[in-house]
Amino acid sequence: MSSDAPIGVFDSGVGGLSVLRALRARLPAESVLYFADQGHVPYGPRPLEEVRLFSDAITRFLLRQGAKMIVVACNTASAAALHSLRQTFPDVPFVGMEPAVKPAAETTHTGVVGVLATPATFQGALYASVVERFANGVTLLPHTCPGLVGQIERGELDSPKTRAILEDALLPMLAQGIDTVVLGCTHYPFVIPLIEQIVGDSVRVIDPAPAVARQAARLLEATGRQADRQGAGEMRFYTSGEVEAFASLLPRLLGETGEIRRVFWNRAGEIELAEA
Ligand code: DGL
Repeated sequence: MSSDAPIGVFDSGVGGLSVLRALRARLPAESVLYFADQGHVPYGPRPLEEVRLFSDAITRFLLRQGAKMIVVACNTASAAALHSLRQTFPDVPFVGMEPAVKPAAETTHTGVVGVLATPATFQGALYASVVERFANGVTLLPHTCPGLVGQIERGELDSPKTRAILEDALLPMLAQGIDTVVLGCTHYPFVIPLIEQIVGDSVRVIDPAPAVARQAARLLEATGRQADRQGAGEMRFYTSGEVEAFASLLPRLLGETGEIRRVFWNRAGEIELAEA
């Protein structure tokens, strides 16, 4: 495995770009293949088994394109698939995500913490285990923010509807005394400015992306896979949705662009590149 091989990163859509942003800041020399499964977004309301099958096929695709490590930049896919991906591909290093209940529980003063994540993430064993291990004595207020992922996929980061969805989630939490909000979905960091307008300065908003990037850096080092090059790594993007829609959001959300290729799922449930 060449250390200049790319890191594979995937999400149901543009959410994982919040993780990619942190990866680029932390590991600028690494090349990245980013997969947005926009043909299936949102993952959150789907059965975990279906998301597991998607994640398995995406991982196989990214490995075929030469990925040396996989970052599951999606809490929902991590909840559904991380355990089985590690079993299916024992030689591949994986970095996954779980709602950042631990740092929230360590720093809350009021002992009341809001957690925003998808229904599938809340249903998964990973969330139950995080709560059991770290939430000791802390009251967690979960909310699924229905419709918010779709708003962000449409680039509506500041529209009245997006604000209404967030107010529905956050105002009752404020009334119950939260001083911390955990963003347990990688789409949500793109609405942090709006969240901060609603909750004010005294509530801490936790975006786990920098911690995920740190973990990716540690794992690259531990497995001797860091890039050797001096300059910036290259980025390539794949979407199972519309290339134009992805292309118009990419510079806005990431601040960078790259080549975007369309992919499709064949009848065998595998992913193929569409003709360029
Ligand atoms: N961005 C994803 C997550 O972190 C998935 C959102 C969705 O597709 O529902 O959970």
